Amino acid sequence: MKSEILQNTIQKLFTKDKGILAADESIKSIDKRFEILGIPQTVENRLAWRRLLIETPDVSNYISGVIFYDETFKQEIEPGKTFAEYCEEKGIIPGIKVDEGLVDFPNFPNEKITQGIDGLRKRFEEYFLLGARFCKWRVVVDVKTSTDDIIELNLRNLAIYASLAQEAGIVPILEPEVLYDGEHDIHECREKMSYVLTHLFGDLAIYRVDIKNVILKTSMVLAGKKSIQKSTPEEIAEETSILLMSTIPENIGGVVFLSGGQTPVESTLNLSNIINKGPYKFPLTYSYSRALQDPVLESFAKDMNNVDGITKIFIDRLQMNTLALKGEYTTDKETGISSTINQVTHSQDL
Ligand code: 13P
Repeated sequence: MKSEILQNTIQKLFTKDKGILAADESIKSIDKRFEILGIPQTVENRLAWRRLLIETPDVSNYISGVIFYDETFKQEIEPGKTFAEYCEEKGIIPGIKVDEGLVDFPNFPNEKITQGIDGLRKRFEEYFLLGARFCKWRVVVDVKTSTDDIIELNLRNLAIYASLAQEAGIVPILEPEVLYDGEHDIHECREKMSYVLTHLFGDLAIYRVDIKNVILKTSMVLAGKKSIQKSTPEEIAEETSILLMSTIPENIGGVVFLSGGQTPVESTLNLSNIINKGPYKFPLTYSYSRALQDPVLESFAKDMNNVDGITKIFIDRLQMNTLALKGEYTTDKETGISSTINQVTHSQDL
C-alpha cells in the first residue's frame, strides 16, 4: 500500500518534460536573499513571494512538484486553503524540506553535519496528513575539505531519513550537494562525487531502503567557482553523464539536478547538454531554486505589485528549462526576459 503511494508519486513527479521547483529555503536563507535585494524580511513578504510563484498562470504545465519549507507548508495561500491543498488542486505534488539545516561538528573545523533526525518519524506522520508526498534532506560536501568520516556520518543520516520517509509514504529526495564554491578542478569534482554516490548507495543497501522509491538530487560535475580552469559546457556534460552512468543504480526512482550557484543560463544549457548525452536508464529532470527564482526575485524586488511582469519572467525561465529537458535548448533560444541577473543569490543554509 505504502509502496503504491510512493510509486504513484514518483511517476507523477517524473511526468515528461516537467521539473520540480525548489521553494524550500529556510526562513534564514530566504531572508538573506530578500536582504540583498532590499525586500523587507517579513512573514507577509515570504508568503507573497511563494504565492506569486505558485499562482503563476499555467505553472503546472512546467512543474510536477514543489518543495516547500515548514513555514509555507503550514500557511494558507488563500483563506481556508493551504499551499499543499492548492497545489493538489492544480495537479502539482507538494513536498517538504525536513532537514533542520547545517551545524558545525565538534573537532572537525569548518565541517557541517545536517541535523533533524530526532523526532523525524513523528514529523513525517504529521506532514503526510498535511498532504506532503515527497520530501528533501540536504547534506553538503566540499570537494577539498570534507573528510571521509563526516561524509559517512551525513550519508548514514540520509539513509535513516530515507527509511523513515518511505515508512510514512513520502518519497525521499536525497541531496548530497557537492558544493560549487572552491578551487577544485572538474576531475577532483568527479572523483569526490563518485566517492559520495558510491558510499551513499552502499548505505542505502545496508539500511534496506527501497531504491526504486528514492530520488537523488545531485550537483553537476564541474570545476569550482574559484578554479582557474573554467569547465566548458561540453566537459560538464561529458563528466556528469559518466558519473551518472557509473554510480547510480538503474532501478532508482529518478534523478534531479540542483543548480548550485550556476547562473540560470548555465544551468539550463548544462541540463540540455547532459540530457543529450543520454539515454539514461532512469528518469532525469531539474529541481532548481536559484536558477529558476533569481531573475524573478529581482523583478519582485523592484515592484512586487507588477504581478504580470514578474510571472512572465518565471514562465520564460520554465519554458527554457522545458526545452533543455528535450535536449533542444541553446542560448540563442533566450528571449532576454529571464536570462540576465545581477548576481546569483546565496546558497541555502551556508
Ligand atoms: P539551487 O538550485 O539554488 O542550488 O537549490 C536547489 C536546492 O534545493 C538546494 O538545496
